[in-house]
Amino acid sequence: MPTKIAVCNGCCCGRIEKGNKEVPVDKLKQAWKENDLDQNVKLNISTCLGPCSQNNVSLITVDGQRIWLGSLEGEHYDSIIEWAQNIGENSELPESLKSQRFIPLS
Ligand code: FES
Repeated sequence: MPTKIAVCNGCCCGRIEKGNKEVPVDKLKQAWKENDLDQNVKLNISTCLGPCSQNNVSLITVDGQRIWLGSLEGEHYDSIIEWAQNIGENSELPESLKSQRFIPLS
């Protein structure tokens, strides 16, 4: 199963006018392109994923497991890039991202 990440940039996530932090869409896309990261992790800049109240959400699917991350800001998106670069050696999330995990209400 391919590892995937959906980075939400929807109706709430990334909307500064709603008090959320910007999602660095261009930086993510560029990092993916420059490092050919699609080989490691499929990147999808997504519309609303559902749990808007978690502000700046991403959903990682790794080994069939869904990992929701919320309240992401600049440094977290940098950590996502780093994680995708190094996933060949270690797919485990760094602490800085683990701390952003949440369980969505179903
Ligand atoms: S806009 Fe991101 S979860 Fe709704």
